[in-house]
Amino acid sequence: MEVQEVERLIKISKDKPLLPETFVPWNIPALPEDEFLPEKLNSLSGLAFYDSLTPTQKTELGRHEVVQVMYSYGWSEALFCLFMNRYILTLQPDNVEYKFLLRELIEEFRHQEMFAQAIAHLNGKPIKPTRLHNFLGQFTVKFMPVDAVFMSCLAVEMMADLYGNHLRKGPRVYPVLKKVAELHNIEEGRHIHFTKAFLRRYTDKAGYVKRSFYSYLVLFNVLFMRTMYVKKEIFGRLGLENPDQVYKMANQNYKQKFGQECLKTIVQFVDEWGGFNRSTRWAWRLFLKANV
Ligand SMILES: [Fe+2]
Ligand SMILES: [Fe+2]
Repeated sequence: MEVQEVERLIKISKDKPLLPETFVPWNIPALPEDEFLPEKLNSLSGLAFYDSLTPTQKTELGRHEVVQVMYSYGWSEALFCLFMNRYILTLQPDNVEYKFLLRELIEEFRHQEMFAQAIAHLNGKPIKPTRLHNFLGQFTVKFMPVDAVFMSCLAVEMMADLYGNHLRKGPRVYPVLKKVAELHNIEEGRHIHFTKAFLRRYTDKAGYVKRSFYSYLVLFNVLFMRTMYVKKEIFGRLGLENPDQVYKMANQNYKQKFGQECLKTIVQFVDEWGGFNRSTRWAWRLFLKANV
């Protein structure tokens, strides 16, 4: 990316800061007809079983699952901040990437604060990442090479972006969450723009093996985040009789739905640098139900 282009992004970040405390209308109460997650994104809609839930159980499912989604982003943003700090220590303060990443750090910290506030606002009780998630997340940001970490983070940011779009467009979504999603979309748009350009210097010269590696990295990160959303405990909270069984159903259902609703831009991105080939395509189809 040209230096002027990065400077333009930095200027927008400075001239038009979006502060969660004023941008989000926190005092608007949720109405009984509001939903917290567009119905098509919750893990059970689409199944015959879903129709047997009471309206309250349906709303509650959306509330618990959106809390889980926001918590997962906040957690992954904290990890990414760890990496950005590690990376900017290698740069000089007059470097344009250094300046941009500082702005991104500032914005990511505000996002984490906003998600935490939104979770508290919804009376949410997020379920922590598993030990494996924790280990892999920390290992990636502390020890993996720069290109691999940026690639991983971009995959997560693109997922957040897609979810944000669905929340913004959902006609019945609780206005507070719509604004949370809008703020996040606007700022992540800049981060994604920067990171894509940054990664081009790696993907442009990558051969078959490297492209396959990047493709698996994106796939793995999407899978990693997806497995943080659908949680067995939530079905217990809804008072359902057989939480284990419901969880299995929900997981299968969500996998399919996710492939249809949430992968479009990610697939486009991987395709741009030739990340689909004989050694990667099968895995995208099998694990993410992607249409590639
Ligand atoms: Fe963010
Ligand atoms: Fe970001």
